[in-house]
Amino acid sequence: MTRFEQNFLTAIDVGSAKTCALVAELTENGPRYCGHGISDARGSRKGVIVDLDKAAASVQRAVEQAEQMVGAPVERALVGVAGPHVRGVNSRGGISLGSRAREIGRDEIRQAVERARAFNMPEDRQTLHLLPQQFILDAQDGIRDPEGMVGTRLEAQVHVVTASATAAQTVVTALNRAGIHVDDTIYEPLASADAILRPDERELGVCLADIGAGSTDLVVYYEGAVAHTGVVPIGGDHFTNDVAVGLRTPLADAEKIKKSFGCAVVTKIPETNEIEVPAVGDKPSRLMPQRFLCEVLQARTQELFEHVRDSLRHAGVLELCGAGIVLTGGGARLNAIAETAEQVLRRPVRLPLPAPVDKMPAALAAPEFAAVIGMIFYGNRMRLARSAQEQGFTARLRALFARKTGWQGTNAGTSDQR
Ligand SMILES: Nc1ncnc2c1ncn2[C@@H]1O[C@H](COP(=O)(O)OP(=O)(O)OP(=O)(O)O)[C@@H](O)[C@H]1O
Ligand SMILES: [Mg+2]
Repeated sequence: MTRFEQNFLTAIDVGSAKTCALVAELTENGPRYCGHGISDARGSRKGVIVDLDKAAASVQRAVEQAEQMVGAPVERALVGVAGPHVRGVNSRGGISLGSRAREIGRDEIRQAVERARAFNMPEDRQTLHLLPQQFILDAQDGIRDPEGMVGTRLEAQVHVVTASATAAQTVVTALNRAGIHVDDTIYEPLASADAILRPDERELGVCLADIGAGSTDLVVYYEGAVAHTGVVPIGGDHFTNDVAVGLRTPLADAEKIKKSFGCAVVTKIPETNEIEVPAVGDKPSRLMPQRFLCEVLQARTQELFEHVRDSLRHAGVLELCGAGIVLTGGGARLNAIAETAEQVLRRPVRLPLPAPVDKMPAALAAPEFAAVIGMIFYGNRMRLARSAQEQGFTARLRALFARKTGWQGTNAGTSDQR
């Protein structure tokens, strides 16, 4: 690794609406912003890359902009993965330590975690994260770090996030085609969580919903660990489509109208307000009640959060979200979305801006950049955890638990437990 590669970190989010590259220097005081680039993403649909050349070209454009600001070439990066092909499962497994109680060491912890993850996974799935939730030593549960404790049976409960191997590999290939080596693939809401969630929310129980263009990606934290990950296949593009169909206007105009005049609560808009709506073809634009636009958007917003609610309930985690729901992603910019979310989910809803990377331009502190910013914080933590590993497994385990997220795993290829 060159000195640049050692001290700098690049994160790339190949979203359905935009590709964003963010470069930060890793200093003793945390990551410091160096440069970024943004380009339209034209190669993705519904969270999956469908046109490799277009996706690679959009990565290249975003990276070139960032390189110009940084004044050095970007050759490796962390990349985000999200979309309906991602799934999370909880799994449990353990080891017997013999008839006489003995002390738990690093090897026993690793073996217990390996047993917990040893379920049959279809060949077309790839493990993105292995996230230990708790350890159970004999009858005692809720243990975060069993090293040094004494017992006869150690069990681990883990959350495993998997992705379609093809979809994840396509993202990596798009970056490779743009000349970028991928160091790690990260499930995006896990990264967003680093820029968005408060530690007390993760302890109390919270659902982070990243409303992108193609999908709404979910992660639920409870008692500091990841309890659930899931995806609702509805994003901002579906809202735009509804507006295009409902107002009979071209997609590009529907997108502009949605952003400028959209609202998720019809009654917030005065009955007399009118908006100009371009027609399809050569017909002249028409004036329409703004409320008509908002009826379309309110219905879609309600549907989205009904799906979120049902998905959380089905996974048995809705009741765990005592701290409520936190929204991010560009789709969360829709006016009054939090009110509709609260009404459907019957939980408090928060819409924070991502925590800024030091020296970051204010324009990046927006919901659609939560994932790429979070990846920088996440990558920084991973580096700290790795250097702790060099000082010994115990130190690393403690470093991992000390992180804001509780104990969060890494890629299968660089798994914590190996
Ligand atoms: N003011 C706004 N009101 C409503 N929707 C908005 C607004 N601003 C942006 N959006 C929507 O946010 C979406 C883009 O969000 P974002 O940039 O987070 O998506 P992405 O990360 O590229 O997509 P994905 O995460 O699904 O791959 C678009 O559908 C866009 O219409
Ligand atoms: Mg996104």
